[in-house]
Amino acid sequence: MHEFKYIGKNLYCEKIRVEELAKRFGTPLYVYSYQTLIGHFIKLRNAFRLIDPLICYSVKANSNLAILKALVDHGAGLDIVSGGELFRAIAAGCPAKKIVYASVGKTDKEIEGAISERILLFNVESLSELENINRIAARRKCVVNVAIRINPDVEPKTHKYITTGKITNKFGIDFKSALQIFRVRNALENVKISGLHIHIGSQITESEPYVSAITKMAVFIDKLRTKGITPEYLNIGGGLGIVYDNESAQTAERFAAKVLPILKKTKLKVIMEPGRFIVGNAGILVTKVLYIKTTPKKKFVIVDAGMNDLIRPALYDAYHKIVPLRISTKAQENVDVVGPICESGDFFAKERKLTKVKEGDYLAIMSAGAYGFSMSSNYNSRLKLEEVMVVKDQEFVIRKRDSHEDLIRSEAIPPFLI
Ligand code: LLP
Repeated sequence: MHEFKYIGKNLYCEKIRVEELAKRFGTPLYVYSYQTLIGHFIKLRNAFRLIDPLICYSVKANSNLAILKALVDHGAGLDIVSGGELFRAIAAGCPAKKIVYASVGKTDKEIEGAISERILLFNVESLSELENINRIAARRKCVVNVAIRINPDVEPKTHKYITTGKITNKFGIDFKSALQIFRVRNALENVKISGLHIHIGSQITESEPYVSAITKMAVFIDKLRTKGITPEYLNIGGGLGIVYDNESAQTAERFAAKVLPILKKTKLKVIMEPGRFIVGNAGILVTKVLYIKTTPKKKFVIVDAGMNDLIRPALYDAYHKIVPLRISTKAQENVDVVGPICESGDFFAKERKLTKVKEGDYLAIMSAGAYGFSMSSNYNSRLKLEEVMVVKDQEFVIRKRDSHEDLIRSEAIPPFLI
């Protein structure tokens, strides 16, 4: 599954002992395995080789330039959601014709930027947005390719914060309204509706919600065909779940076996937007035990990483496995693993049975490659972390740790206060 394995008593990332990295670069530290990253991309590509989809890695999962460049070099396109992500995509050398752009709230400036770059498709989320893109394109005397994001109203069986394809969610357009848009499409001369898009949620471990959503799309596509409308692309979004704990998440092969038959029948070019599946298990967060604190009711392992570095447990009550970088005992104990931030939500594990650790030991918080660094912040004026990529027996810093100067670089004291 991934290249973080024990050799003897030590955790390795590919061929490097992670504790060496922790000592050399300091903690907290994100460590990524290049082989794991690329391995997952290739697994997905192979599983879908029969239809050769355009796999647009979802930048939001982990937007580090080195991660993007590594995937782009292997043929990935990118799924973006902002002007900032477009900037990163271009900086990583992604061909514009492999960029798709989703988001319910694209600003005029962002739309203009993406039109200038001539991206493949805007995934449009409302009639107002479509009209706005049409207006901007008309001003620029061009025709812009768009896909209509459909809200297929399916239950993806995941955390409610990351469910996106139910009719009560803010995303996409219901089938009826979408059909209406197709009916009036000729009035919008500066947009060409070339595709359909869905993204039903994230960390989805079963294929059933996809089968249900894609089947609904196939029916809709047939309906469009009877009206003489044939889109070129079907984008099935991202959302493929990974193993954090002991989920039996579907493999790429099993997922493909379920959805390929329906996709093939549509005869459309398929686009996918996986984020977590590719990068989730390719990264860990390495942290050091600062203090052990025993209270009348609890034992706290206080580490130097905080919720600002990895917010998933605090935000979604998400589970991340925690393991020592070096196994020095078989003894286990029930502890809370917490960070230094001034909030009780600042935890990585609660009432968790962990290998007994002592002050100064290092821990790895596993499966932190997706929505780890990309959701991190400077809360409590903490410095954003260093990120290191390991390739076999070599390591590369792919992001320097923030400095104190970085914290205040963009701030200013107005003259009346000086
Ligand atoms: N496409 C669209 C339109 C999306 O909104 C997303 C994720 C993806 C693709 C990629 O989804 P993935 O394959 O990574 O599941 N912060 C949350 C996850 C939020 C997902 C947002 N959208 C977490 O840490 O679980």
